[in-house]
Amino acid sequence: MLVALTFTTNEPAPNRHGSGNSPGLAGTLAADAHFKEIRFPAGARMKARPRHHWVVRVTHWVAAVAITLMAASGMRIFNAYPSFHRRGETFCCYPFEGHAIPAWLTFGGWLAGARHWHFAMMWLLIAAGVTYVVFDFLHGDWRDLVPRRGDGKRALEMIRFYLFLRRDHPVQGKHNALQKLAYFSLPVLTALVVLSGLAIWKPVSLGWLTALFGGYVWARYWHFVGMVIVALLALGHVFMVFAVDPYAIRSMTTGGYDERLSPESRNARPFYHLLPKWGHRTMPSTEAEP
Ligand code: HEM
Repeated sequence: MLVALTFTTNEPAPNRHGSGNSPGLAGTLAADAHFKEIRFPAGARMKARPRHHWVVRVTHWVAAVAITLMAASGMRIFNAYPSFHRRGETFCCYPFEGHAIPAWLTFGGWLAGARHWHFAMMWLLIAAGVTYVVFDFLHGDWRDLVPRRGDGKRALEMIRFYLFLRRDHPVQGKHNALQKLAYFSLPVLTALVVLSGLAIWKPVSLGWLTALFGGYVWARYWHFVGMVIVALLALGHVFMVFAVDPYAIRSMTTGGYDERLSPESRNARPFYHLLPKWGHRTMPSTEAEP
């Protein structure tokens, strides 16, 4: 048996299975009482449910710190020779040859200091990354992240929702299709950045790896481009966490997550329906009946 739990939103009654243009079951039941409906098993206590295992939480924060420091110290190392062309040669694909990256974006102080930080953080990142991937594989969490057929369409629906082209939040699950895309690409791209980094660190003993990236100059270029993409994705990720689902920060710190605050329950877009609507309608008790 299920207990219906209702929330108010400013949106017209949504159709949970369609584009939101027809009223659907919710609209039929509650003509213009604006609400979204979530179903929980009867007797379920409405408390935060575990969402991220501590291994995922610890490795997430270690990786977040390590990636930030690696990007900043990497840019300091780059500034020692801020070009991709070899002396006397040209390079096709970098329009800012010879221009140093602003110092405020860099970390490590000087070339040797930045190198020390970069390598120290590399070992931390590799340890956290390998632990995360192995854990995800053994624990089955990879199923929440690996793209499935239809995810492209679902990601487009999320974009339409964020652009106000559909009224109701697509069915979320643990992560929406856009999140899945980002959370899957981030570890894969980070691994490529680490590999291209190893290729330019040991271009002789790991010559085969350097060759795989197209030689030293190109390996250095892919390392840089990969870092920029990872940084932009990570910034987008952090923006969306704060603008759409800041309540998920709890799930990445203590582990618990309250589904009543999920973006789907709030019908939340960036900075829109950010706050829960506790006051608008009395929440029915979902304590177990005696
Ligand atoms: C201050 C910086 C960051 C904050 C506040 C933050 C916050 C969060 C939160 C709250 C979640 C959980 C989302 C949910 O359960 O719906 C999450 C998941 C995730 N974050 Fe971050 N994050 C940050 C930086 C990063 C960085 C730098 C990366 C990697 C480059 C990253 C990669 C991921 C990945 C892959 C997940 C999915 C984990 C999983 O479900 O297995 N995050 N982050």
